[in-house]
Amino acid sequence: MSLIRLEKISKSFRGNLLFEQAAASFDSGRIYGIIGHNGSGKSVLFKMICGFMRPDGGTIEMDPKYRTKRTTFPKNFGIIIDRPGYIPSKSGFENLKKLADIQRLITDQDIKEVMRRVGLDPELKQKVKNYSLGMKQKLAIAQAIMENQEVLLLDEPFNGLDQDSITNIRQMLLDFKKAGKTILLTSHNKEDIDLLSDHVYQINQRKLEQLY
Ligand SMILES: Nc1ncnc2c1ncn2[C@@H]1O[C@H](COP(=O)(O)OP(=O)(O)O)[C@@H](O)[C@H]1O
Ligand SMILES: [Mg+2]
Repeated sequence: MSLIRLEKISKSFRGNLLFEQAAASFDSGRIYGIIGHNGSGKSVLFKMICGFMRPDGGTIEMDPKYRTKRTTFPKNFGIIIDRPGYIPSKSGFENLKKLADIQRLITDQDIKEVMRRVGLDPELKQKVKNYSLGMKQKLAIAQAIMENQEVLLLDEPFNGLDQDSITNIRQMLLDFKKAGKTILLTSHNKEDIDLLSDHVYQINQRKLEQLY
């Protein structure tokens, strides 16, 4: 059984048809790359998968293991979509701690370890509003992975990162795959997609065309 299966998905905004009868399926333990030009619907696709937006038609089936009764947001998913809502006047650690307090699955030490892993200094007192683009991106990645989520939906995870950080995060994602995690990622950089992905879908003519 697929972890996520999309069938006959359609979605439009005010006459702008993004998807029409689109289909795709994602199996566990693999890395999937999603490519498509700006505005083709990559972020919308991720929002539909995690329940932030509903398709106009079609179905999104999810392995029951990840479904919850209370919310449409799937269990054990970590996501980066668009810009997360941080508290600008707080530090990176304080922001992650606030999010971690919702589920209370992890300790302060866990948060600090994840921050170091993505290349952020957990002791840094700097407010998030003064973070560089790359630092904000690392914080978004830390937020997506800190609870050891099994499925990661990463929309443009390499945006704003310098070359060393890109290399580090790429390796981390490959390690995650070895550990059995499932990753869907978008990038406009074909090199990232080709280096990491087992399978690639391209948004083309309002469908999800599987390239490999
Ligand atoms: N909530 C929304 N309301 C209206 N239009 C939207 C909304 N979300 C996305 N769109 C439009 O859908 C198109 C695809 O957006 P998006 O998925 O963000 O593209 P991308 O492939 O660059 O991530 C864009 O034209 C965008 O303006
Ligand atoms: Mg996008």
